[in-house]
Amino acid sequence: MENKVMYSAVQPSGNLTIGNYVGAISNWVRLQSEYDCYFAIANMHSITVRQEPAELRRRTLEVAALYLACGIDPEKCTLYVQSQVPQHAELAWVLNTVTYVGEMQRMTQFKDKSQKHADNINMGLMDYPVLMAADILLYQTDLVPVGLDQKQHVEIARDVAIRFNNRYGETFRVPEALLGKTGAKIMSLQEPDKKMSKSDENVNASIYLADDKDTIIRKFKRAVTDSESEVRFAAEKKGVSNLISIYSIFTKKSVEEVEREFAGKGYGDFKLAVGEAVADALAPVQAEQKRLLADKAYLNGVLASGAERAFKTARRTLGKVYRKVGFYQGE
Ligand code: TRP
Repeated sequence: MENKVMYSAVQPSGNLTIGNYVGAISNWVRLQSEYDCYFAIANMHSITVRQEPAELRRRTLEVAALYLACGIDPEKCTLYVQSQVPQHAELAWVLNTVTYVGEMQRMTQFKDKSQKHADNINMGLMDYPVLMAADILLYQTDLVPVGLDQKQHVEIARDVAIRFNNRYGETFRVPEALLGKTGAKIMSLQEPDKKMSKSDENVNASIYLADDKDTIIRKFKRAVTDSESEVRFAAEKKGVSNLISIYSIFTKKSVEEVEREFAGKGYGDFKLAVGEAVADALAPVQAEQKRLLADKAYLNGVLASGAERAFKTARRTLGKVYRKVGFYQGE
């Protein structure tokens, strides 16, 4: 029997954080042998907010190298850059005609980003979910591993697929979101009610995968805690609980073990230990990313063969769509 198809993508804008690593990348690595996986670098989504072109190009390669360094295996899955597969834009155009303006205006992310970038509410920003639906539907995807913030987008992809299938006949597989385990969510170091985010304006709120050891330790030292000094996991101790979760994930110790380890010790010792554990875990990934970035020929080769593989599947789906909607494709 054919493997189920899993599809996900990441934008090459902003620096990835340990939240992305724990919530997304490490899951992909775990799932890549069980599914037929596609992982895209969604650079076409990135330009819906202003980007510095040279930086966008550089980050695209950095993200690719990072995913490889984290253990994404290009033999097992298709790792590619979205703009190198033209069918994404082509399918998005067709899907636009079965998507309503009203439903796009109601999307949470569109509303948030419109507020944040009030001087640049462009058509692409509103159309973002349709392009994302095209990404997903082109590969006849079963599962889409995403964070909670992207769930609404996967639901739109489902709605659009169902609508298209009803209007034109069975064409798309209807995808489902695969939400990460809630236990593994990493919160901001400065406002522990908020998720750690790569776009947080306060750089001290997030640990970036590119941060060096000194930076990591400094950020953990400054992390917001509380006026007690007890390393204990509790709802009213959000900051400390977040640090316990992080330490527990990166050292694979249980919460109880962590509490025991730091019983009677102050926050200073604990924060230093968290910083060291995270820095030590990231060091080999950073070294491997650096090595890959120095080997452009290899990276370009991986992305070229990824794009070629993606193209073959995408072309098949788009051909079917064009036939269904009545586009002339030569006789
Ligand atoms: N919008 C996603 C994000 O910002 C990235 C993305 C683009 C994506 N296309 C996708 C995720 C398709 C899953 C499937 O995180």
